[in-house]
Amino acid sequence: MAVTVLVGVQWGDEGKGKVIDVMTENVDAVVRFQGGNNAGHTIHIGDHKYVLHLIPSGILRENTTCIIGNGMVVNPFGLLEEIELLESKGISIRNRLQVSTRAHLVFRHHEIIDGWRDTSDDGYVIGTTRRGIGPAYADKANRSGIRAVDLTKKDVLQNKFSAQVDYYNRLFTANGLDTVEFESEWEKLLAATEVLAPLVADTVLTVNRLRQEGKVLLFEGAQGMGLDIDYGTYPFVTSSNTTAGAACTGGGIAPKHIDRVVGVVKAYTTRVGEGPFPTEICGGDGEALRERGDEYGATTGRPRRCGWFDAVACRYAVMVNGIDTLAVTKLDVLDESAMLKICTAYNVDGRIVEEMPSDITEISRAIPVYENVPGWQTSTSDSSSWEQMPENAKSYLERVSELVGAGIGIVSTGPERDQTFFVD
Ligand code: GDP
Ligand code: IMO
Ligand code: MG
Repeated sequence: MAVTVLVGVQWGDEGKGKVIDVMTENVDAVVRFQGGNNAGHTIHIGDHKYVLHLIPSGILRENTTCIIGNGMVVNPFGLLEEIELLESKGISIRNRLQVSTRAHLVFRHHEIIDGWRDTSDDGYVIGTTRRGIGPAYADKANRSGIRAVDLTKKDVLQNKFSAQVDYYNRLFTANGLDTVEFESEWEKLLAATEVLAPLVADTVLTVNRLRQEGKVLLFEGAQGMGLDIDYGTYPFVTSSNTTAGAACTGGGIAPKHIDRVVGVVKAYTTRVGEGPFPTEICGGDGEALRERGDEYGATTGRPRRCGWFDAVACRYAVMVNGIDTLAVTKLDVLDESAMLKICTAYNVDGRIVEEMPSDITEISRAIPVYENVPGWQTSTSDSSSWEQMPENAKSYLERVSELVGAGIGIVSTGPERDQTFFVD
């Protein structure tokens, strides 16, 4: 398949980074199309663990071109740090990484306002990553944002940056917050442009040229369906569209060129931050799942909330994203469980609801209707094919597939590359 879009199906952290790294063995270019360094995509290779926040997860394959697409919001210092970290581990980004001229920039003042708004009493506390993502997208929508192309023109950048810092400092002063020191931030930014400006390119042209040459492209989603600004549990969402359509607007590919959509889904469910989570397991059993799955945020280190597989939410994600194939991750985390639960419907005020409600108050009141499924209580980590899997693990996945209406194409049974197999 020449053009694949890969998205998260739940509330993020489904294991997208790992699956992309595995798939990228046969991919020429990986394009991130939304989000920023709120994302944390983890890849384990031998003794090394890489957590990528802005750079696409294809970067660990040395012949893959990696593109930071126009739909992203990019913290220049975060990007610089990530480049330096990769280079210190011997991974060169030279001639392999491009940043879209149209991507928007995130600065310290965005982070400050993000953190302040998320703790103030007058609004919802979302539990954001405090990376300034919402405020940077707000500036984009307000038409007051600064784009990556501006990194290539010192005078233009200085004028825009100075105006933005002025604006935010007035806001900070009015609310009793410390202001940002323009001179030192500007010096830092100017130094960063030395490395970053040469990476800035019209990536829409790159993407479409590669496609015309018959290259294999993979569009890498960040976050997941439950965090999509339109389809997620608004307002407890991120500030971008995380669903497959965003690959077109944020990556520069036309809808008619997308051949396949892969949805990455954990064999259970997790969520970081606030917001409704119908299948959450509170108390000791949830904590045990968190420990078994090592469920701590890759970006903020926060403990992830854990719960059972939610077929209602997943079915909705399959429909909206047009998912052709599911990649199911972290099956091994369920290896020890004697009995598993799958949520097949919600009970909302006595009504059985099989479709994901759009009203968040209904999602908050939803009581999951569960089906019990026997566990397999044996290791799946050594299975390298569907046939080798324990019978009950196959039955669990077959039931999930049937309930959500999509086939399973990839199964992941551990964090390493070789703990993955494709299903025919
Ligand atoms: P992403 O944001 O979707 O890329 O996911 P994260 O990297 O934030 O979180 C997924 C975590 O699960 C990472 O620590 C991965 O190394 C790990 N992981 C991925 N697949 C598997 C798997 O099949 N089994 C286990 N045990 N861990 C996995
Ligand atoms: P990856 O790509 C999990 C969550 C935050 C918060 C909400 C809004 O690694 O799956 P934001 O900083 O985006 O304004 O926060 O979204 N969130 C994520 N949760 N994985 C992510 O990314 C996330 N990115 C944002 O915890 O609830
Ligand atoms: Mg993550």
